[in-house]
Amino acid sequence: MTTARLRDASALSAKADALVIGVLGNDSSLRPAPGAEEVFDALGPGFAETLKALGASAKGGDVCKVPSGAAAKAPVVVAVGLGDDEEIDTESLRCGSGAAARALAGKEAVALALPASTDEQIRAVAEGALMGAYAFDRYLTKKHEPIGELVVLTSRAGDRAAKQTLEKASIVAAAVNFARDLVNTAPNDLYPESMAAQLASHAKKTKVKVSVTDEQGLAEQGYGGILGVGKGSAKPPRLVKLAYAPRQPAAHLAFVGKGITFDSGGLSIKPSAGMATMKCDMSGAAAVAAATFAVAELGLPVRITAYACIAENMPSGTATRPGDVLTMYGGKTVEVLNTDAEGRLVLADGITTANGDQPDLIVDVATLTGACVVALGNKMSGVFSNDDTLLDELPRVAERAGELMWPLPIPDEMNEKLRNTKIADLSQHNPDKWGGALFAAAFLREFVAEDIAWAHLDIAGPAFNEESPHGYTPKGGAGTAVRTLIQLAVERSRRS
Ligand code: BES
Ligand code: MN
Ligand code: ZN
Repeated sequence: MTTARLRDASALSAKADALVIGVLGNDSSLRPAPGAEEVFDALGPGFAETLKALGASAKGGDVCKVPSGAAAKAPVVVAVGLGDDEEIDTESLRCGSGAAARALAGKEAVALALPASTDEQIRAVAEGALMGAYAFDRYLTKKHEPIGELVVLTSRAGDRAAKQTLEKASIVAAAVNFARDLVNTAPNDLYPESMAAQLASHAKKTKVKVSVTDEQGLAEQGYGGILGVGKGSAKPPRLVKLAYAPRQPAAHLAFVGKGITFDSGGLSIKPSAGMATMKCDMSGAAAVAAATFAVAELGLPVRITAYACIAENMPSGTATRPGDVLTMYGGKTVEVLNTDAEGRLVLADGITTANGDQPDLIVDVATLTGACVVALGNKMSGVFSNDDTLLDELPRVAERAGELMWPLPIPDEMNEKLRNTKIADLSQHNPDKWGGALFAAAFLREFVAEDIAWAHLDIAGPAFNEESPHGYTPKGGAGTAVRTLIQLAVERSRRS
């Protein structure tokens, strides 16, 4: 695994296999970002022109490798674009260090001479590089060589606050990478029982207590949503509870994650093109678990109770049918009309369970609807809430963590649509094709206890990157929402 440390050394004297510097500017000229000045000076007055001739640009995330000659100890200089602003944006820095780390796989030591004077900058450089250094090679006979060590060059290497910042950044990046591993694992290896076992085994080294309810326990307690979705699969469902309970917590947060280890659509089967990436449908459960482990490792004074609602959605002779009525955990009945709208069914059981813990708030995370991707694109998650303050807060929390989230409404008209059934309390499926993400959120809201603030994060867009890698985001599982959940816990731990 790649590790990171701080070092107070000049860029030119840093012993490393590659030296990463930042470049600022535009189409007509390039200039060094803070940390890169001495490298520009040492490589001579024509260096900016050389970079341009080699195709380097200051565009965020662009990477250009140049031999350093004898000017620096590191044989290769890697110039990454950080934009054109005087005040360097933290997210550009995170993307830049991530893109550099991706370009340097296999190097033993990489020195980063990027802007790293404030805690925010040190955090961004370290998080970006550690997330960018991620590679998933479980199924490759020839394994990837990861970067051995990332050395963040900063004059504050001896400073306690800076060291703590680096430690925190390492925990956050490791949590994101843990979630990515779960998402990328093939669904023949990661199914409800094995995912539950993996979370339970990971918890052993932590202060998080994990308890697993199997299909028999779920049946005894009336978990009709999770069981209804899992019924068609040869692999029975699981509900995993992860509890972190420090002394004198400043708040109690509940997280609920959608954990569909594979979503075939069930009897309302998906076309094959839409099914190909559906191992990603447990990204919400991976995010809540990874964030809970990270909050515990950070030792934050915030109590977390997380539920991973895990099932495999398959068609078979035992599968739930369109037209079936499920009795959900807690007793509400739901008419199922489309078995591909399964996420809301497992989440409803999870949310009802979370109500029972009386947390200060509930956040659910789910790759819930294609409609949300249509609305916001594949880089941004949707946020829904029953509480305007939380709806306003969460996208800002996400931004401070380096994630993109945008508030979406739950219009009143959805309440009627939800009751567009004569045979059960609620209808599971939108009667028309409009506002599918909003209908799903309205459905979930029905299960939240009246006095509890709740937010729903629809991460269907960004959870799985089907395009080329960019910045610190690899192809495949992205680890979406992990950083936002951790940041929320950090911020709530400061309130009291
Ligand atoms: N898991 C999918 C949503 C999804 C789509 C996740 C794209 C990631 C990328 C979800 O279970 C689903 O199938 N939703 C349906 C809902 C519809 C049947 C109401 C959808 O979005 O089409
Ligand atoms: Mn589905
Ligand atoms: Zn799904």
